[in-house]
Amino acid sequence: MSNTAKAQPAPVASEYIPLKARNVDFEWSGTPLHWVPGDPATTHTINVLHLLLPAGERWFVHVYKQVLPFIRDEQLRADVIGFIGQEAMHSQAHDEVLPHLKELGLDPTPYTAQVDWLFEKLLGDRTLPPGKARQWWLMERVAMIAAIEHYTAFLGDWVLGAQALDRKGCDPTMLDLLRWHGAEEVEHRSVAFDLFQHVDGSYRRRARTWATAFAALVFLWQRGIRFFMEHDPTLLNGKASLREFLRAGREGVLPRTGAIARSIPAYLSRTYHPSQECSTAQAVAYLARSPAALAAEAKMTPARTTGGA
Ligand SMILES: [Fe+2]
Ligand SMILES: [Fe+2]
Repeated sequence: MSNTAKAQPAPVASEYIPLKARNVDFEWSGTPLHWVPGDPATTHTINVLHLLLPAGERWFVHVYKQVLPFIRDEQLRADVIGFIGQEAMHSQAHDEVLPHLKELGLDPTPYTAQVDWLFEKLLGDRTLPPGKARQWWLMERVAMIAAIEHYTAFLGDWVLGAQALDRKGCDPTMLDLLRWHGAEEVEHRSVAFDLFQHVDGSYRRRARTWATAFAALVFLWQRGIRFFMEHDPTLLNGKASLREFLRAGREGVLPRTGAIARSIPAYLSRTYHPSQECSTAQAVAYLARSPAALAAEAKMTPARTTGGA
């Protein structure tokens, strides 16, 4: 048997953690339009998350509810249910930023309408007969979600360690949203991959759907930045530029292109497993001091006391 034939994803068991959704709330009234002070390009690059994630994470939940009956492993089923709970909350939390952007003069509706169409129609259930075609489409989407989750974990890990955002004086509420979300992405980074391995696991499908997901993310992201820069009511001739992206990477307020490039062979390695990257301990440590996560915990405590009485 060749080495390639033997190579299998190698999980790191100590990185595993059971999942729970946190019922967070954010108060946006004090958050300025350019919440990365003096840096609209970086603000809007990160703001694209608020355009893509509400529909994208709703789509994850929609697809995963269809996969649940095919799971034959009780721990994985519990992980997928935990994942669904966390992603539903993420989707809602990012969605709630959009009315605030609109109040500040930046109406995201023209872009989010297109993103909704993409996830609900193009990547939706399609009218397929029960059987092979329907199953093929479900597996394609499960594999795409695993590829996207490689990048949500990458971004989560990055934002947890991006001290340059604090030094620059970013809005604390937005930073908490990004880090609470990022920490939960790191917590559940293995679930989508494990689910894909469990129901399909084809390396060819993993590589092919990675290419689709990566190309789509780059396309949607640069389009989203352009949209925000062009519609920002405080900018004359606002434009997205690669030079600004590279500058922000050097400053540490966005991921560096080298790190993004290195994430590609990592995912395409036959021995890749998401638990080999990021740190569950770092994520848990942030969640233990996140203002939103602590407030969510405090909301739960009286309910538990009452329930136990
Ligand atoms: Fe998420
Ligand atoms: Fe996720």
